[in-house]
Amino acid sequence: MNNYIGIDLGTSAVKLLLVSADGSIINETQEEYPVYYPKGGWSEQHPEDWMTAITRGMKTLMYGVDPSTVKGISFGGQMHGLVILDSDDNVIRPAILWNDGRTAEETEYLNDVIGKAKLSELTANIAFAGFTAPKILWVKNHEPENFDRIAKIMLPKDYVAYMLSGVHCTDYSDASGMLLLDVENGEWSDEMCKICGIDSSLLPKLYDSYEVVGEIKPSMAKLLGLPCGVKIIAGAGDNAAAAVGTGTVGNGACNVSLGTSGTIFVSSDAFGVDKDNALHSFRHADGYFHLMGCILSAASCNKWWIEDVLKSDHGVEQNDMRSLIGKNDVYFLPYMMGERCPHNDVDARSMLVGMRPNTTRASLGLAVMEGVTFALRDCLEIAKANGVNIERTRLCGGGAKSELWRTIVANTFGMPVDTVMTEKGPSYGAALLAMVGCGEYATVKDACDACVAVRATILPDEKLTKAYDKAYKVYKELYPAMKNVFKLMK
Ligand code: XUL
Repeated sequence: MNNYIGIDLGTSAVKLLLVSADGSIINETQEEYPVYYPKGGWSEQHPEDWMTAITRGMKTLMYGVDPSTVKGISFGGQMHGLVILDSDDNVIRPAILWNDGRTAEETEYLNDVIGKAKLSELTANIAFAGFTAPKILWVKNHEPENFDRIAKIMLPKDYVAYMLSGVHCTDYSDASGMLLLDVENGEWSDEMCKICGIDSSLLPKLYDSYEVVGEIKPSMAKLLGLPCGVKIIAGAGDNAAAAVGTGTVGNGACNVSLGTSGTIFVSSDAFGVDKDNALHSFRHADGYFHLMGCILSAASCNKWWIEDVLKSDHGVEQNDMRSLIGKNDVYFLPYMMGERCPHNDVDARSMLVGMRPNTTRASLGLAVMEGVTFALRDCLEIAKANGVNIERTRLCGGGAKSELWRTIVANTFGMPVDTVMTEKGPSYGAALLAMVGCGEYATVKDACDACVAVRATILPDEKLTKAYDKAYKVYKELYPAMKNVFKLMK
């Protein structure tokens, strides 16, 4: 049977997945790379590290596999990151990542001087510090010598596609997060390019996520141990790829991802914009659209709590936490990297609130998971206020592995939470996109219908839902109360 490779270019690691045309997983591996924080609120990565990790990982992935069975490769990639190459294809500076907050001034300029209404008219979105356009302006303002050398602009996964195929490409879902795309019409906005001081010829060619952009270059095929002729398929931003991987396609389908970031992703057949632009209005990898709320720190808060604070997961008393569900009186704000949706505030900080002498470690640990979930509920409430009807959600990402966290989501959202059999996040969606590109399935929906099935569902409990509604009311008061204090802490 034909096999397909899905590459999820994440923030802390690249995940590689080998999937058969019938959807079964043959092999998987992951390789880590560093994130650099050269200043408070900055976050960068070396694109060369991504390629080194992929080259290493491919050897493990393909161990014992007949390479001639591999027909296509596609991607899910961390979104919004700015990768710039010069005219000799050298990387000009480290990639500036999606959770980097250095562009406060450029974001303010775009939203306040150019104006939110204009941005929304041109791109269906407003500026958030992590988006790509403010980063381009930042390089223009702070590193003019680098700005003048720019010959190609691309997103992280597009750098990998370029290295593999030699084609300067992107897809509509990822391009949506650049603030340079006219999302409704699916074309680069010349006016936005002018605002950023660039020519649209520096931008990649646009493809649907499931479209073939080219074939693997012979030199790359040799390096990776793959046959010539393997097709490279455009792929998607990691959230759209994860949505495909959980079968979140079609009108009203919802997926929540608890990864380094947290997202709520609502798929839609029609283009739509949140009236306050607090949610992103992007294209989906199935050829349609979605609304998305993104919080910058999700499972990463839990990781911080367990690895950096407790220093061991022996300190996590699952049973004690479980017994506190619906009764916790400690609250956590998850804004470890500032916050994107809905507050759009790079100065926001994280905090634990409400401790008393008898507060336990379990109570604090539970508060961390609950705080992240409440932050996602903020986004859910906005979607609901826009008239979007969400009846149930799928859940993916590292946090979805915890039954406790799944229970918290079901009761905070007041809806059934499904997890799927092949929960591999964006890499699985990427493999499905590769299959569609190579003709195994006619549409992304067909691929999802054939390969994705629900494994388990957690139903909300009436008493717990009420308790979480009450707790969410308290949570909602915390950010407005602290907003000015966060500014003073700058
Ligand atoms: C989405 C976003 C994050 C990154 C994480 O808008 O910024 O989810 O894509 O990789």
